[in-house]
Amino acid sequence: MMVMNAVEFLIHEHRLLEEHFEKSDFSRCREELIKHVNLEEEIFYPRLLKSDLFQETILEAWEDHNLCMQLLQELDGDLEEKFRQAKFSTLKKLTLEHFKEEEEKLFPTILKKASPAWLEEIGEVMKLHKPEIEADHVLYPEIPGSHRPKL
Ligand SMILES: [Fe+2]
Ligand SMILES: [Fe+2]
Repeated sequence: MMVMNAVEFLIHEHRLLEEHFEKSDFSRCREELIKHVNLEEEIFYPRLLKSDLFQETILEAWEDHNLCMQLLQELDGDLEEKFRQAKFSTLKKLTLEHFKEEEEKLFPTILKKASPAWLEEIGEVMKLHKPEIEADHVLYPEIPGSHRPKL
C-alpha cells in the first residue's frame, strides 16, 4: 500500500465508514467508528492540540466523538426496533456531519500549515496502530472536560 499522509488516511477511513452506514451494517459501523475515533483521539488530535491554531476545532470535534460514543453505548442496550432505528439514523447523521466538518474545516488548515513529512509520519503511525486497537477499547479522558462514556 502506498504511503498515505494522515489526512488522506483519515479521509479514506471516512469513505469506508460511509459505506458501512449506507448498508446499515451496525456491527461494522460500531467497530470501525470506535477504531477511527481512537486513532484520532490517541494519535492525531493530541499532536494537533500542541498548536493553538487547532484548539477550538479539536475540542469541538472531541465533543462530537463523545456524542457518537454515547449513542453507540445506547445502541448496545436492549432497545425496541423503532428506537434502535431512530438512534442509528441519528448516529449516522452526526457522524457524517462530523466527517464533513473535519474535511472542510480542519483538514484544509492542517494541509496548509503542517509539513508534508510530519503528515506522512502521523499517517504511518495511525496505520500501524490500527490493528492493535480493540473495538471495545475504552477511550481515556486525556483532555480536560472530556466525558468519555464507557463502551
Ligand atoms: Fe473525528
Ligand atoms: Fe475523522
